[in-house]
Amino acid sequence: MSNVKFHNGENIPLEMHKVRIVQKLNLVPIERRLEAISEAGNNTFLLKNCDVFMDMLTDSGVNAMSDKQLGAMMEADDSYAGSATFTKLENKLREIFGTEFFLPAHQGRACENIISQAFVKPGTIVPMNYHFTTTRAHIVLNGGVVEEVITAEGLKENSDFPFKGNMDVAQLSALIEKKGAEKIAYVRIETGTNLIGGQPHSLENMREVREVCKKFGIMIVLDASLLADNLYFIKTREENCKNMTIREIAREMADLSDIIYFSARKLGCARGGGICTNNREAFYKMRELVTLYEGFLTYGGMSVREMEAITVGLDETMDENMINQGPQFIAFMVEELQKKGVPVITPPGGLGCHINAMKFLEHIPQREYRAGALAAALYIASGVRGMERGTISEARDDNGNETFANMELLRLAMPRRVFTLSQVKYAVDRIVWLYENRNLIGGLTFVEEPKILRFFFGKLRSVSDWQIKLVAKFREEFGDSL
Ligand SMILES: Cc1ncc(COP(=O)(O)O)c(C=O)c1O
Repeated sequence: MSNVKFHNGENIPLEMHKVRIVQKLNLVPIERRLEAISEAGNNTFLLKNCDVFMDMLTDSGVNAMSDKQLGAMMEADDSYAGSATFTKLENKLREIFGTEFFLPAHQGRACENIISQAFVKPGTIVPMNYHFTTTRAHIVLNGGVVEEVITAEGLKENSDFPFKGNMDVAQLSALIEKKGAEKIAYVRIETGTNLIGGQPHSLENMREVREVCKKFGIMIVLDASLLADNLYFIKTREENCKNMTIREIAREMADLSDIIYFSARKLGCARGGGICTNNREAFYKMRELVTLYEGFLTYGGMSVREMEAITVGLDETMDENMINQGPQFIAFMVEELQKKGVPVITPPGGLGCHINAMKFLEHIPQREYRAGALAAALYIASGVRGMERGTISEARDDNGNETFANMELLRLAMPRRVFTLSQVKYAVDRIVWLYENRNLIGGLTFVEEPKILRFFFGKLRSVSDWQIKLVAKFREEFGDSL
C-alpha cells in the first residue's frame, strides 16, 4: 500500500493493483470437509484443491502474476542451449545482485541439493539462523550437521523485537572457535526465516555475521527465497536503512554473501530457482552438478516461459509498493486475531499469519501434534487450508524418538496479491470461532509415517470422535451456512 490514510482512521491495507483474471472458488459444506480431511489422513498437503476454499497452505508457486509477467511469457526463446531468455534472466540477476555467475535450477531445494553436494562433507557443520525442512534434509543427507544460532528473541512467540531472524553473532563465533573453522562447510543465512514465522533479519546483523566469517575464512550462503519480505522489513524497521532504496538493500545483502540461492516459486512470483555467485571456484564446483541433476546450463529444469516471468518478477520485487502488500495483509490478519485474544506470533512477519498452536491447544499433549490438529480443525470449520509447522514437520531421532518442535505453528500463508480483504476477514471469523470452541479439538496420531519429510505425505487419524463433535457444534451455531 502506498502512503494512503483513511478519513475514518481505519488502518487497512489498500491493494495497489486491480484484478483482471479470476478463478472460481468452491466452499463445500462442512460435512464434505469432514470427509475430505479424513480421506487426506488429516494432512492438509493431501487435500484436493476442489475441496479447498482459501488455499493458505503456501506462497510457493501460487503468487498472483502480473500482466507484465504473463505478457513476457509469450516472448520466451525456447532452445535447449543458448536461449536468449536465459541471458535476460542472468542479466537481471547481475543487475540486482551484482553477481557474475548464475546457475539455474528447477526450484529452491534443487539448489540446496547442489550446494550441499558441493560443500557439505561428512562431519561438517552448517551454522544458520534457522533451518528450513528441505535445507536440513539435504545437509543431513550429505553427512553434515545443522547448528542453529538464532537470537534468543527468535524463539519467543511474542516479542517487540523487529528482527527475530537475526543470528546470535557471539554464539556463532563461539561455535566456530569450538569446532574449528575447517569443520564449517559454510554459514547459511535464511532471509525471512520460514519456520519461525517469516521473521526477518537486519542488514546490520548480516554485516556482523560477515565480519565473523571473514575472520575465519568461511563462506556465507544466503537463502534468498523470502527476500522480498525481508527487504520490506529492513526498509521499514531498520532505522539506518530508511533512506536506502530496495535495490540498494538487495545489493548490499548480495555483496555480503558468497553464494545466493533462491526458490523462484517465492522470489519473483513464478516457478523455478537458481544460484548466483562471484566465486569462480564455487561456480565450477556446482556447475557439473547442475547438468547432472537439473538440465543444461541455460535452463536448469525450468521452462523458458517461467524464466521470462521470473525476470520480470525480480524487477517488480524491487518496487516497495509491490513487496509491501503481503506483509501488510499479514499484519492486518495478525492484529485482528490478536484483538480477539487468539495466540499468534508477533510481531507479524512475512509469508503468512502464524497461529501459536502450542498455546491455542494447551490441553492437547505435544505428542498428539497440536499444530497438525489445529490445521485439520481449521479446515473442517472453514475450508481454509493451512500448513502444520510443528512437530510433524520435524524428523524422529536415530532411536525413533519424537523430536518435539520448539514452536507448534499453524501457518496460514498469504500468497502475494491473491486474496481479498473480505476473504481474510472470513478466515479471521472462523479462527475466532474455533478459538472459542477450542476445547472440542483433540489430538492426532500417525497411521502411515514416512521416514523422510513425513509431513508431506504421512497420514494421521483423530484420537477420538472430536471432529464429529466439532461439525455438530458448527451446525448448531451456523445453521445451514456453508
Ligand atoms: C526459505 C526456503 N528455502 C528453500 C525452500 C525450498 O524451495 P522450493 O519449495 O522451491 O524447493 C523454501 C520453500 O518453501 C523456503 O521457504
